[in-house]
Amino acid sequence: MQILDGKSTALAVREELKKAVEDRKSKGQKIPHLVAVLVGNDGGSLTYVGAKVKACKEIGFDSTLIHLSENISEKELLEQVEKLNKDSDVDGFIVQLPLPKHIDEKKITLAIDPKKDVDGFHPNNLGNMVLNLPCFLPATPAGMMELLRRYEVETAGKHCVVIGRSHIVGSPMSILMARNTSPGNATVTLAHSRTKNLKELTLQADIIVSAIGQPNFLTADMVKEGAVVLDVGITRVEDSSKKSGYKLLGDVDFEQVAPKCSFITPVPGGVGPMTIVSLMMNTLKAMELRGDNLSAN
Ligand code: GUN
Repeated sequence: MQILDGKSTALAVREELKKAVEDRKSKGQKIPHLVAVLVGNDGGSLTYVGAKVKACKEIGFDSTLIHLSENISEKELLEQVEKLNKDSDVDGFIVQLPLPKHIDEKKITLAIDPKKDVDGFHPNNLGNMVLNLPCFLPATPAGMMELLRRYEVETAGKHCVVIGRSHIVGSPMSILMARNTSPGNATVTLAHSRTKNLKELTLQADIIVSAIGQPNFLTADMVKEGAVVLDVGITRVEDSSKKSGYKLLGDVDFEQVAPKCSFITPVPGGVGPMTIVSLMMNTLKAMELRGDNLSAN
């Protein structure tokens, strides 16, 4: 069994990005600028956005956090998005989800200029992804693909079961794994809350991606020997022994499942760090391609 170490892989990618920034600086070129918009004070979102902004600063990107009140109106948020679309210093920006209930997430997503949509959530980017055309890929699936690429995990012809059909993770991951690319070329089953006999499916899977946010959901009896398991779950559970007061749990019963696997991601230190570097890779790409067409992924 080999650990797919997202932490060390992300560090390697960060070093590459750092070099790219230094190179640009030495030539007197602009450095990438990512803006993260956070509405309200959701604990998880505060942590994730904070980590994204900090990671950008560490590799020499410019990054700005725009923290708005929970009570901001949809119109005001749309105005903020428009301002960022027009700001020539901003290469890419994200609006952290979820948004407060009185704001329509779809409207906000649609308002973001696809060329600055480094989350890859705009329908233009998602549509281009399906067609294997140039686009920004959503960060979490892109991070998993990068991890598979760097560990040279064989995916062609394999049966991949993705559990969870969220717009952010499960659905795009199912598309990326099925595309005629490497990694990719897998035969994909997308399982969700209405799926019957999930265990029958996962037992046939060479690759399992679990993205439902239910701790210890995937148990050893659901996994065949030699499977590759990618765990996207990051559920916060109270833990007084931790400084933060909580610990993060994945969807996978790691202790029992890991010995059966050929490759597995841990939580924390697996998919999470890769998500952040994907966002930074997208931001660098957004800057390099300004006024240009996006290059193919
Ligand atoms: N909420 C959970 N994951 C994400 C993400 O990747 N991007 C944004 N904008 N919001 C999120």
